[in-house]
Amino acid sequence: MLPKSPFQLPNSLRMGLLITVLVGLLIAALAWFQIERERRNDLEEMDRRAYILAHQMAYPVQVALRLPDSEAATVLGSMLEGYRRLIGLAIYRTDGRLVAAGKGAADFADVLNQVVDRALAESKDIVETRRTADAHIHLLASLIRTPDGQPQGVLAVLHDLVSLNERATHRQALFGFWIGFIVLSLLILTVAGAWLLYDRPLNRLAEWMRQLRTGEAIAASPVELPIARLVTESDRLAASFRAARSAHQAQARAVVRADNVWTRDRLRAHVVDCLRGGQLLVVSNREPYMHELRDGKPRLIMPAGGLVTALDPVLQACGGVWIAHGSGEADRQMADARGRLAVPPDDPTYTLRRVWLSREEEQGYYYGFANEGLWPLCHLAHERPVFRASDWEHYVRANRRFADAALEEAGSEPAVVLVQDYQMALAPRFLKESRPDLAVGIFWHIPWPNPEAFRICPWAPDLLRGLLGADLIGFHLQQHCNNFLDTVDRMIEARLDWDHFAVELQGHVSRVRPFPISVESWTERHVLTGVELERQIAELKARYKLDKGRIAVGVDRIDYTKGLTERFRAVARFFERCPQYREQFTFVQLGAPSRTHIPRYRNYINELEALADDINWRFQTESWKPIRFLVGHHDGVTVHAFLHMAEIGVVSSLHDGMNLVAKEFVAAKEDQDGVLILSEFAGAARELSDALIINPYDTEQFAEAIRRALEMAPAEREARMNRMRRQVEENNIYRWAANFLADLTAVPISTSTTQEVA
Ligand code: G6P
Repeated sequence: MLPKSPFQLPNSLRMGLLITVLVGLLIAALAWFQIERERRNDLEEMDRRAYILAHQMAYPVQVALRLPDSEAATVLGSMLEGYRRLIGLAIYRTDGRLVAAGKGAADFADVLNQVVDRALAESKDIVETRRTADAHIHLLASLIRTPDGQPQGVLAVLHDLVSLNERATHRQALFGFWIGFIVLSLLILTVAGAWLLYDRPLNRLAEWMRQLRTGEAIAASPVELPIARLVTESDRLAASFRAARSAHQAQARAVVRADNVWTRDRLRAHVVDCLRGGQLLVVSNREPYMHELRDGKPRLIMPAGGLVTALDPVLQACGGVWIAHGSGEADRQMADARGRLAVPPDDPTYTLRRVWLSREEEQGYYYGFANEGLWPLCHLAHERPVFRASDWEHYVRANRRFADAALEEAGSEPAVVLVQDYQMALAPRFLKESRPDLAVGIFWHIPWPNPEAFRICPWAPDLLRGLLGADLIGFHLQQHCNNFLDTVDRMIEARLDWDHFAVELQGHVSRVRPFPISVESWTERHVLTGVELERQIAELKARYKLDKGRIAVGVDRIDYTKGLTERFRAVARFFERCPQYREQFTFVQLGAPSRTHIPRYRNYINELEALADDINWRFQTESWKPIRFLVGHHDGVTVHAFLHMAEIGVVSSLHDGMNLVAKEFVAAKEDQDGVLILSEFAGAARELSDALIINPYDTEQFAEAIRRALEMAPAEREARMNRMRRQVEENNIYRWAANFLADLTAVPISTSTTQEVA
């Protein structure tokens, strides 16, 4: 590399000079052109004047030339004298002899003689300008003819060009002044503009990058950068940089912790330590056990969804109270007057406290704001969020109701409150406003989008302030933490500490951390094993006509974010490309209807059923269908049996915080055999890199992944599955809960009072 010159001009000055020189030259050329044009116009005007004068004088001169010289001079007399710019006139005979001349003209006799001689010799009018030692003159030698056209003499007209020259000089001075003025102004403007728009922001960017590199306190990236992409890209760069640093720190921590597998008992002991005599409270919208009415009798179900799957084992291990919406038809009937009951009903280990909401409240808060607004807002699945003021009001009120129920459960005792998910964004602040001494953590189970996406929510700042009531805010991925901090940075006045991933708002500090959620092993749940499991699988195969060939399975709530249409289309494409697999392979989709009061969800079920019918119609044979779409609520025992029997598990979310089905599939492969096809847009893809990672929008790639999974060599399948199983076993839900609680209770609780929200 060449050494840098010490005298390098700043970029703005160089750019200013370059622009100024170019523009200056252009203006000077135009000015020169203009001055020349005007000079030519002036000369033409002078020609015209001389000709008019010659024309006017033609008759008296003709008359005079018929007379002898002395009489002719007398007749013309003063007519030959000049005035103002006209120096004078002179009359000549055809032999070139001067007849008479004005006084002024006589001074230029030599020049006049030459021009008159030329006019006579060439027999035509001559116009020209001449410079003498002390004058600059305009000359017209006009031939005077008799009425029959014979040359009779010459009339010479002389004009002084000094005034013309003066005008030209004056014009040059004027143009010179304006060019100077324009060039100077341009120089100042371009230098200042270039400095403001480029030099200054780029210097700031460089300084910010230096801070990022050296690890000094880092503010958000400068926002006034000249190119919008530079802002986005620098943000991303910083986010990746921070992510890498934090991943490195996390890795360092993990080395210490990953000594062995976390179990229910180990978590229980750990939680006792963390709680220090306080109790554990969980607050979520969805309840872990719901009572529905079936044939007029209460029937217990465990709702589908990652939140319940993850949190129920934690509460079973640690005890405590789970506060949630009692949304089942028979929920009131099965709870006491305060909405409480012990769960799991067959072997109670903790308390479920149900919160009652009216239909209208549930509609506004849960279906409206949470699921028509926040859900599509946070999942980039091309579904437009809907925000209604009335829904927001219900959301605020419902959050307060849940917070009040938690405060009631806590009484005046110390407690650790784990608030769950996007339905509860305001609860942390409500809790802290009443009880600053509570340790409050919130875990956001869905993705957190980038600030540009999040800021379209009209109540985004309120949501952020609500969340920042918590002492600890957890996301699945570092990327979501980065997005969250970026959003806070852009939307509210708070102090960000990027090094420690913390936000200080009105004296209260919230730490932001990634905690990739997980599952417990199937053996700890009441699922079938051994011969009983084999018998159940045989029954299911017989019931759904699956005894032919190999099986792939998907298990999802029926939600547009799960990429189910993309999945069905990939199956169809697979059979188009590989017709030899007809009757050899079946795809089974277990779909739990979800949020069906929302039209988009209802329509999605219909759309999927129509698509499955269509694909089946195209490929089915008398005894086989390519897709089995089993819509309904499937209990854990059935889900486990399907996951266990399938060779291939398929997760094709368009965007997903984690997706626990991916981990449940891995956990269900006790025989170490099976292939997971996993969307790159699910958080789980970061941990389960031995899955076949697909882009669900790429049907060809997806179909090819199905073929690859079916044809993968057994040794490779086993090796991949082994690695994934180790990952899921080591990083199970108990480790997740232990890490979250340890982080939440590790530092003294920030008890500064917070202000009212919403
Ligand atoms: C996702 C959400 C959970 C929710 C679950 C089921 O996993 O993150 O908060 O409980 O879906 O949805 P539902 O609306 O039935 O509670």
